[in-house]
Amino acid sequence: MISARLRPGGTARRAAFGVRTPDLDTSTPAVVLKLDPNVMHHGGLGVIRSLGRLGVPVYGVHEGPWAPAANSVYLHGRCFWKPDPGETDQLLAGLSQLAGRIGRPAVLLPTDDAGAIFLAEHGAQLRPRFLFADPPADLPRQVAGKYSLYQLCSALGVPCPHAALPGSLAQAQAFAGDVGFPLIAKLTTPWAHARGLRSTSIISDGGQLAAAYQECAEAGVGLMLQEFIPGGSGHDWFFHGYCDASSACRPAFTGVKERSYPAHAGLTCFGRSAPSAQLRAEVTGLLARLGYRGILDLDLRLDARDGQFKLLDFNPRIGAQFRLFRDTAGLDVATAAYLDLTGQSIPAGEQVAGRSFLVENYDPLGALRYWRDGELGLGSWLASLRTVDETAWFARDDLRPFGLMCVRMGWRLATRPLASGPGQPAGTDFRYRSGRAAARPGRVAGDSQLSAITATSRRAAPQSHKEETPV
Ligand SMILES: Nc1ncnc2c1ncn2[C@@H]1O[C@H](COP(=O)(O)OP(=O)(O)OP(=O)(O)O)[C@@H](O)[C@H]1O
Ligand SMILES: [Mg+2]
Repeated sequence: MISARLRPGGTARRAAFGVRTPDLDTSTPAVVLKLDPNVMHHGGLGVIRSLGRLGVPVYGVHEGPWAPAANSVYLHGRCFWKPDPGETDQLLAGLSQLAGRIGRPAVLLPTDDAGAIFLAEHGAQLRPRFLFADPPADLPRQVAGKYSLYQLCSALGVPCPHAALPGSLAQAQAFAGDVGFPLIAKLTTPWAHARGLRSTSIISDGGQLAAAYQECAEAGVGLMLQEFIPGGSGHDWFFHGYCDASSACRPAFTGVKERSYPAHAGLTCFGRSAPSAQLRAEVTGLLARLGYRGILDLDLRLDARDGQFKLLDFNPRIGAQFRLFRDTAGLDVATAAYLDLTGQSIPAGEQVAGRSFLVENYDPLGALRYWRDGELGLGSWLASLRTVDETAWFARDDLRPFGLMCVRMGWRLATRPLASGPGQPAGTDFRYRSGRAAARPGRVAGDSQLSAITATSRRAAPQSHKEETPV
């Protein structure tokens, strides 16, 4: 039995944030789908805030009530659920159940590769109840797979590092002989594996290569070896965008990964918005050729040896640091997707340059490693923190997720310092509770991001339900 608490609400207060765009209809609910078992994932919280501040009734899928993102003031409803991404029927049933609770069609935004792949391959029967992008069904899996992306790039002539799928340790050693050390080791399908194995690692010598090969062989996971592209400051780039039904990418943003965690081969923990017309043109051209539709997040490295951007990674979903980017119309990729999927036009705007984004829980850990490697001084690190425009967790109008993140991080560091242990097991248990926004109908924030957007609600709020309705 499922107990539900739903209250009416979510109707956006009419707020005059600006006059440069037409009125927005924010009455269609949105569901932020998270299948990744990492409770500290900040991308979903960003979507909740971006849409929630506009007045969209936002529903989230979370591990449990103490997940930091589950405590956002902008959540209208919360679904506590840890489905196994491989269990298609279970996922379809759970999402249908959630749709029944919401009571009307909702925009569905996956925040991880597993969710994007699932929707592309199995989402057809959810269509009447959810609005989501429809890329070619096999494309998200193809681009998210590390080796299948390499094959695709090779076929299309897109610059990328050399790569191999070694079938034996001898083949791995032969590849290392060809490209030299360091080289990069990547899990071929990182979304499909238990946590504990790192998705991307820098391999410095033969001993590390043998250990990585052995570890993957024992775990039964695919390992790809890749040529190391020399980097350094300003060489790691990323691209975030949203492609509409005709694969036109708008908005399209480019930025620089200044620091990552784990250092040199991880997620962006400090990034900067930096428009690059060349990169933008190259990526939007590729997306049109692929017929891609929906949100995407790409990692690239500028190879100083030949001046080319080498494509490293293609995530067919929103990037966790997407709130770094906004355009002069006040849009980010989540808002653009919401507007397009609800049949509204995407206002024109230019990328805002120079903004920076910090992930508070990972950047100090990443910075420590850069400092040890002699690449970052304390003064430079502190100076970079003073330039931050957007943080992953801290927000004055939504403090609880930050507080819970600090508590969880403190506990994690005290109990298993700097290690990433196995995630919680998946489960079929599905519970629904109202979110904090449900108790405050009409909450719309004065987010500076929205200074050029006028948010209004023309249609009725989502269907209200009785508190604690048993199903
Ligand atoms: N071939 C390479 N040469 C040099 N550095 C690389 C290479 N591949 C990856 N890196 C570094 O590792 C970072 C992360 O790489 P990538 O995006 O491929 O992996 P990932 O983020 O772990 O994958 P996912 O996004 O699927 O979780 C890059 O931004 C870059 O700094
Ligand atoms: Mg990546």
